[in-house]
Amino acid sequence: MKHDVIEKNVGLLGILVAVVISIGGLVEIVPLVFSQETTKAAPGVEPYTALQLEGRDIYIREGCYVCHSQMIRPLRGETERYGHYSVAGESVYDHPFQFGSKRTGPDLARVGGRYSDEWHRLHLQNPRDLVPESNMPGFPWLTNAMLDDSLTAKKMRALRMVGVPYTNAQIAGAADEVRGKTELDALVAYLQSLGTAAKNWD
Ligand code: HEC
Repeated sequence: MKHDVIEKNVGLLGILVAVVISIGGLVEIVPLVFSQETTKAAPGVEPYTALQLEGRDIYIREGCYVCHSQMIRPLRGETERYGHYSVAGESVYDHPFQFGSKRTGPDLARVGGRYSDEWHRLHLQNPRDLVPESNMPGFPWLTNAMLDDSLTAKKMRALRMVGVPYTNAQIAGAADEVRGKTELDALVAYLQSLGTAAKNWD
């Protein structure tokens, strides 16, 4: 039996297993690279404004993604709680995306507009003032920390190189938009932008 040869030769078996898995991987991955659905922005999805972009960097710096996902699965229990399930086209301007992998707190992909700015400010200062049973840490240092406006335009230019369609005017105005704002202002602006486009999807 020819199969004996494969079964008795672990090197050959390993190589053939790798070949079979690679074909499976290619069949799944290659179409995604060419599909419009995964490479074009979903309806209503816009690049982050300068202030939102700075807020996103605070979100990453503070490790919010360690406890919060931004990835709603197409399961009834999730869509009833959070809203429309996540689609690939809403992450095209996210470098890197913030899907996360663990939910200690709720998913945040649709949190924009759910609470007022003031709610977020108080909550980030000390979550237990608003949600007594919360085990989310407070981030009080964001309230008085000023943003560094010297880097915002550079960040936007770097993002433009990887396909985020920032205009020259947006980049030129970036420092002015961010100047005098605190890290808390930026983080709240970012949170309030999350999932707002999805409100108009069926
Ligand atoms: C140690 C885990 C942990 C970390 C880190 C964390 N959170 Fe939370 N977060 C929670 C938990 C638990 C809740 C639910 C209780 C509450 O609302 O406070 C929550 C709730 C929230 C909510 C309300 C969501 C809703 O739909 O009600 C927002 C907004 C939020 N977190 C933002 C953030 C941001 C921004 C950061 C980073 C600066 C952050 N969280 C860091 C655990 C965490």
